[in-house]
Amino acid sequence: MNRRLQKLRQTVGMLLLAGATSAAAQSATEAAIAEYHEMFGDENPAELWEIRGADIWLQKRGPLKADLTGCDLGLGAGVIAGAYAQLPRWFEDTQRVQDLETRLVTCITTLQGFSEEEVLAVKFGDGAKKSDLEALSAYVAAASKGMAIALPMQHPAEQSAYALGKDMFYYRAGPHDFSCATCHGESDKRIRLQALPNLTVSAGAQHAYTHWPTYRISQGELRTIEWRLQDCLRQQRMPQLKFGSAVAIGLTMFLAKTAEGGVMAAPSIRR
Ligand code: HEC
Repeated sequence: MNRRLQKLRQTVGMLLLAGATSAAAQSATEAAIAEYHEMFGDENPAELWEIRGADIWLQKRGPLKADLTGCDLGLGAGVIAGAYAQLPRWFEDTQRVQDLETRLVTCITTLQGFSEEEVLAVKFGDGAKKSDLEALSAYVAAASKGMAIALPMQHPAEQSAYALGKDMFYYRAGPHDFSCATCHGESDKRIRLQALPNLTVSAGAQHAYTHWPTYRISQGELRTIEWRLQDCLRQQRMPQLKFGSAVAIGLTMFLAKTAEGGVMAAPSIRR
């Protein structure tokens, strides 16, 4: 096990060297992915995040010196198996619809006594700084592997979150007058050689959504769906997405609902 982890860490370093983000480096990145698969088969560095997430879950931390085993992700305190496949959903205690990441923030603040500001100080890792939220997301998402996405969608707030996300998906704005649908509303569309999934149909949404969180080879980081959304809004030249906002949760709800029935395969590995 330790030898395997060491090997995974080495691969991460190797891939980072090959995985510069410029278009010119794209074929180098693709070659690195091919090389990666040749050397490691289905091994995925995301496992490092999963292991760290499991460790954080069980550690007694924060002013209240508590672990996260009492965290209710929608299926009862401490139940993580299948929880991610049913998110986002309505939570009675917070009186809001929450996705995995905002629910983790709720658990960390209420159970361990950290302030929200402290938890959100590192929302997304940048290589040197690791984000606990990403590690925990990997750990929780992995416990839904093989399970079909099935959102409750009974509560009116869940339905309006979905409606807001759908409106947002088709809302055109910004200097280019783009909406999400401009890039993700048709099948077989490509941008700078990258295939763009059609997120308005179930097959496309399933293919995309079931793989997040994912290990991004080009970044050497594990990324969550909130990261993906904020990066796409940036490409759309829209204002920065507020973490855990109604827009973030609505868009996630829209994607998850469209992907319903898809079988969770996260954390995956992506370019
Ligand atoms: C200017 C074009 C563009 C716009 C507008 C855009 N995206 Fe994207 N999106 C991309 C590109 C490029 C990728 C990356 C494809 C890849 O890496 O293979 C991507 C990837 C994604 C993925 C992950 C797909 C996968 O298979 O892993 C999701 C989910 C997504 N976008 C959602 C959205 C949402 C929601 C919006 C609107 C808020 C949006 N995108 C707006 C270009 C766009």
